[in-house]
Amino acid sequence: MTQDQWTAVENYFVEALAPPDPALDSALKATEAGGLPAISVAPNEGKQLHLLALVRGARSVLEVGTLGGYSTIWLAPGVADVVVGPALQSLPDLVGPFDLVFIDADKQSNADYFAHAVRLSRPGTVIVVDNVVRDGAVIDESNDNAAVQGVRRLVDLVSAEPRVSATVIQTVGSKGYDGYLLAVVTG
Ligand code: DHB
Ligand code: MG
Repeated sequence: MTQDQWTAVENYFVEALAPPDPALDSALKATEAGGLPAISVAPNEGKQLHLLALVRGARSVLEVGTLGGYSTIWLAPGVADVVVGPALQSLPDLVGPFDLVFIDADKQSNADYFAHAVRLSRPGTVIVVDNVVRDGAVIDESNDNAAVQGVRRLVDLVSAEPRVSATVIQTVGSKGYDGYLLAVVTG
């Protein structure tokens, strides 16, 4: 399988199952016009987040790392007010619980963000962490890339956290080979 095939298959399903939306299109355009990197979630992942929020019946959603607001729109209307600034400074003041937390910010702080997410949770809260596969780089413990180390610290934390049950969904598509961690707070 090639990147072209992954993208073509993604486009096929997105065209069939996630028709264009003016708000999403304008968020992508504003992201580009504002000089932000083209790392918004792919449309099919946005739809997955949307469906997770629906399945959970999420009324309160916390997103850490909004970029240009593209994934935020997929998660709406559950998203709480936007707090601009470094998340590690604003998270300690937040009051939960949230029904769903989507973590998609700087990867080296993943474990800290996850710990806050658990603090701001209740049983049944869904926690999603983006970009935990990174072309498979995650399995190389000697890789000193800050993002890879951040994901590995996250996995260590999650595996030692008795209050959550988690797995990783590996993905291929327009954004290459990656995946996200899906966790549910059980206690
Ligand atoms: C990067 C960050 C992301 O959140 C993403 O989805 C893809 C890439 C990055 O920093 O390279
Ligand atoms: Mg991401």
